[in-house]
Amino acid sequence: MTNPVLSLENVNAGYGETQVLRNLSLEIGAGEVVSLVGRNGAGKTTTLRTILGIITPTSGTVAYRDEDISAIEATETVRRGIALVPEERRIFPELTVRENLELAALGGADSGNALSLEEVLGMFENLAERTENSGSSLSGGEQQMLAIARALVGGAELILLDEPTEGLAPFIVQDVMDIVRQLNDRGITVLLVEQNVHVGLELADRNYVINQGEIVYEGTSAELEADEDILEQYLGVTN
Ligand SMILES: Nc1ncnc2c1ncn2[C@@H]1O[C@H](COP(=O)(O)OP(=O)(O)OP(=O)(O)O)[C@@H](O)[C@H]1O
Ligand SMILES: [Mg+2]
Repeated sequence: MTNPVLSLENVNAGYGETQVLRNLSLEIGAGEVVSLVGRNGAGKTTTLRTILGIITPTSGTVAYRDEDISAIEATETVRRGIALVPEERRIFPELTVRENLELAALGGADSGNALSLEEVLGMFENLAERTENSGSSLSGGEQQMLAIARALVGGAELILLDEPTEGLAPFIVQDVMDIVRQLNDRGITVLLVEQNVHVGLELADRNYVINQGEIVYEGTSAELEADEDILEQYLGVTN
């Protein structure tokens, strides 16, 4: 790739003595949607934490817009335009939808890329109808939408989504997928972590498969879809 927005090169990282990521390399181009799929415990969340700077690699480099961010803390990577929407959809349950968004607009990136509250509410119909409701009154799908909306008003240019469809009813999964497409239409780059390979295959330009902290496969969705061995061996998908 000539000019990736994000690149990880031979990254080793983990928790204390426990190594999780092993010589992990991946690249994402501007405006791409890339999926990182793998089973439970494969190292997907650890990869996202390492990109954001919650974990510092023991060796290897993480580069964002040609700058080495391997040793930079999360507060600074967020300021530079990276946002993580974690598995647990961190929102403020006691605050209203509007307050959640207003707070997110105060923090976030220096990118100049921030969407206004009105723009974001235009994208998320179900949030627009509930601006004065508390975060805790939202359904799981709506909380997921709010977590993504917070990244947008914060001006994120690269959004890391950690299993955004996990535990959601099928029709809400479709809504979340539509939102990911809309993000991409707005030029936002997306790294999508999924256990559900079908969501990755449908949304992503390219896919990486991770197993025991190592990238074991990289390919377009058409290529991965046709590779039954990889699907079966690493993702437990059988036909
Ligand atoms: N805080 C932690 N301290 C020690 N080990 C951890 C910690 N968090 C995760 N691990 C270990 O790191 C490995 C990778 O975990 P990670 O959360 O990255 O996997 P994952 O692919 O996101 O899995 P899941 O699909 O269940 O979310 C696992 O073996 C896990 O037990
Ligand atoms: Mg995880």
